Order: sequence, then C-alpha cells, then structure tokens
Amino acid sequence: MILIVDFGSQTAHLIGRRVRDLGVETKIVLPNDAVSAANQFKPKGVILSGGPSSVYAQQALLIDRQIFNFQIPFLGICYGLQLMAHQLGGRVTPGKKKEYGPTVFRIAAQNKLLKGLNREMRVWMSHFDQAVKVPPGATISGSTPSVEIAAFADESKKQYAIQFHPEVHHTEDGGRILSNFIFDICREKADIKTADIIQMTEEIRKKIGKNKAVCALSGGIDSTVAAYLTYQAIGSNLVCFYVDTGLMRENETNQVIDSFKKHFPFRLKVIRAEEIFLKKLEGIIDPEEKRMIIGETFIRVFEENAKKSGAGFLVQGTIYPDVIESKGTEHAEKIKTHHNVGGLPEKHGFKIIEPLRMLYKDEVRLLAKKMKIPNEFIFRHVFPGPGLAVRIIGEVTRDKLDILRKADAIVVEEIKKAGLYEQIWMAFAVFTGVKSTGVTGDERKYGETIAVRVIESKDTMTADWVKLPYRVLERISERIVAEVFEVVRVVYDITTKPPATMEWE
Ligand code: XMP
Repeated sequence: MILIVDFGSQTAHLIGRRVRDLGVETKIVLPNDAVSAANQFKPKGVILSGGPSSVYAQQALLIDRQIFNFQIPFLGICYGLQLMAHQLGGRVTPGKKKEYGPTVFRIAAQNKLLKGLNREMRVWMSHFDQAVKVPPGATISGSTPSVEIAAFADESKKQYAIQFHPEVHHTEDGGRILSNFIFDICREKADIKTADIIQMTEEIRKKIGKNKAVCALSGGIDSTVAAYLTYQAIGSNLVCFYVDTGLMRENETNQVIDSFKKHFPFRLKVIRAEEIFLKKLEGIIDPEEKRMIIGETFIRVFEENAKKSGAGFLVQGTIYPDVIESKGTEHAEKIKTHHNVGGLPEKHGFKIIEPLRMLYKDEVRLLAKKMKIPNEFIFRHVFPGPGLAVRIIGEVTRDKLDILRKADAIVVEEIKKAGLYEQIWMAFAVFTGVKSTGVTGDERKYGETIAVRVIESKDTMTADWVKLPYRVLERISERIVAEVFEVVRVVYDITTKPPATMEWE
C-alpha cells in the first residue's frame, strides 16, 4: 500500500483515487499521524500531498522528520516538494509571482520518476512559494519558465519531488509519473479483483466502441489475456491472428491452435508464413540482423492480413517490464520490439490497446487465473518472439530447425516428467553449430553439439541456472543422442545472467 499524507490539499483524495485506479491500496492520513501510520501499515512508499500553507509560516504544517528515516521511497507533490526541500536541508522562499494553471515543464535530468516522458510537457501548477535550494545530495530534475526547481530528486534515497500536480487530468502523462513511482520505484504490485477485470473490460469497450480490433496471438500468456479481455469487451469484433513463422517448437503451432479452439470463443486466423521467414533468413548469421529481419517480416505479414479485416485497433499484450525496457538498454529495446509485435512502423494506421500495460508477469498470471484461463496457458514457458532462430547459432535452415525441435522436445518432456516445469522459467535446447567427434556403433561420427539451458528467474532481468538432479540431466543427454541421429554431444549451460543472457543470441 501507498501512504498519502494530506497537507490540506484540494487534490489529496484525487491522488488516492489515481493510486487505486492503478490497483494499489492507499491510506490517507494527516501529517501528525504519518509516523504511526508508517509503523502500522508498512507502506511501500509515501506521497506528500499539496496544501495551502507555507513551510516558513509561524504555524507551518510540517511533518515529524523521523518519517524520512523509513527506508522507503517518497514523492512530494506541490507543497510536498516545498516541505521536502525545507525539512531535508534545502530552502524555500515566497515566489515572485503566483503560478496557477498550465505551464510547460522541461526535464533537466532524467530519473526513474520521469522515465518515458517527453522532454517537455504541459503540466498544472498551483503555488506561490518555491524551492530555491535543493537538499544536499538531491539534484534539480526539471524547471518551468518561472520556477527553476520545479522538480528534484535524490535517487540514492529514492526521494522525489515535483512542484506540479500529476494527479490532475490536465497534466500530460501524470498517470505515468504516478505509475513510475508506484510500480518502478516503490516496487508495489497491483492487486487484481473481479471488479478490476470488469473495469478493464469496460475501458476497452469504451475505447473501441463498435469498431473492429485485431490481435496477434503467440500462445503466450500476455497476448492470450489481452485478447480474452478484449473479447469480453467487444465479442466477435475482435479477430485474432496466429503467425506460424516456421520457427516454432515441435508441434507447437498445432497445439496452440487446438488449445485456442478448445478454450476460447474468439475468431482465430492462422497465417502460414514459414516459407517467407526461412527465405528471408537465408545466409544470415548475425544475431541482431536475424532479430531485425524476423521482427520486420512478422509485422509485414501480420499487417497485410490484419488490414484486410478492416480493424481500426490493435490489441497488444504489452506488460510493465516491456514498458520500462522499451526505454532501457539497447538490448532490452530489441526484446520489446519483438515481444509486442512491436517495432511497429510509425505509420501503421491502428490505434493501440494495451490492457496489461501496468502489470508484471506474475500479475498477468494472477489475472489469468481469475479469468479461469487454463493452466496450460498460464504456466507455459516464455518463448522469444524470434523463436528457435535465436537458439540456432549461425544460419537458420530447415534441417537445423528439425534437429533442434527434436532435442528441445526431449528437454521439455523430461523436465515435465521430473515435475519441475512449473517451478522454472525456461528449459530449452540450443543448436550450437559446433561439430564434434563422436563414436557410434564403432564408427567415427562428426556430429552436432546440443546445449541444454534450464534457468530460473523472477523478473527476466537476472537468472540462475537450475541445479537439475543428475538423473534428469542424464536422461536428457541419453535420449537426445539416442533419438536425434545427427547429435553426438550434449552440454549443460551453467552460466548465470548476467553475464550471459538467457537466450544464446
Ligand atoms: P534474454 O535472452 O535477454 O531474455 O536474457 C530474457 C527473456 O526474454 C525472452 N526473449 C524474448 N522474448 N522476443 C520475446 O518475445 C524476443 O526477441 C526475446 N528475446 C528474449 C527470453 O526468452 C527470456 O525469457
């Protein structure tokens, strides 16, 4: 939960409402009760609201400084900023002129709170006093034409302050600021209730109206949940597509189609595009080039088919880590590009619907459970957009794909038999492209090397390799060399992330 300290603001309740809209519980308390409430409720973060007083007035409404000793994030809004400046060692003075209503906020230094926002944005202010010196350790993160310190932050202490009001509707991207604070900085999680599902469906219905929407399904949980929510909102005006890139696992396409048909009522069109993908990948060995080609081809194939349906909206299963990562490192951005059928060309003619934008993967799984989506979808291991292409080192060919598919199916089967499938993040085989010498039936055989990668992770950012029981490893190895003719050697990948990524390419 997030604690809101109300300094007499007109909008403290509105802050509470916005936080609750994000699926997070709040408690609004008066300044005098803040410390005891922090002790009692153990909030994940504190928001200090605006208010009409002056920090330097005789009867100034201050807060027990002890509150800042709680090792939790703080967000000061308006008067909250002034209070933090004043009580944490900066300085506040009366402004030269009152500033009410819209103004332009310009980011001076990026931080987690302002992540993903435009450098310049229209915000709403309502104040007279202003901070003229930030607390020691803090830096100015943004200004307006008349206020130099319109935002400051001390990221090491997770203390953030903004002079404008993110909670009011007119502040551009105010919701993003609050969600950055709550989910990214406080690491709070949205709690999913049936009422939230109804509300999410309602919002989708309002946005799409009587129009048509399309969605690309992969069989993964994110796109499945996004599609199902949308289906509940607009019914058969949703058309789903499954693109068979030819880079899928053993029998995956048939299984996915069968599962969808069995469990979901939405219209599903299958696009068979293996030939197109394999042709485009001919001769390509650079991993990034592979990813780019696959992403681009996917979009073109999907677009061509989706346009024919006359849809104006595109539903995507974007989740919160994708949102963060899309502005993160180069590698993360590429992950996102494929993940969401993203890397959409700038002009694609669709309005985007992203119902899961504020959720983490585990929350999507919770939501799926609440929506009674079968476990085979909920616990399916993550599979990368570029599919087996990033698990084949070097050029992707149909022969290599067939070898890899057989080996991979054995890995997954044995992991399932050992009862470990649902506890781990991913288990898969990699076609290493390394040829090595073997001896089979008294004959020398120069064959393929398959690597087995089994990892556990909570949030994709870091991962550890799973200490599989020897008997499981043994079984996997024995079966691969026995059942996949071309393979003479099996190795186990024992690298953490970092430094290695989960996928080999
Ligand atoms: P890495 O290899 O970056 O992967 O440690 C982290 C997680 O993301 C998945 N992954 C992808 N998913 N499109 C996706 O949809 C991609 O291009 C992609 N690359 C990696 C990977 O399988 C792992 O679970």
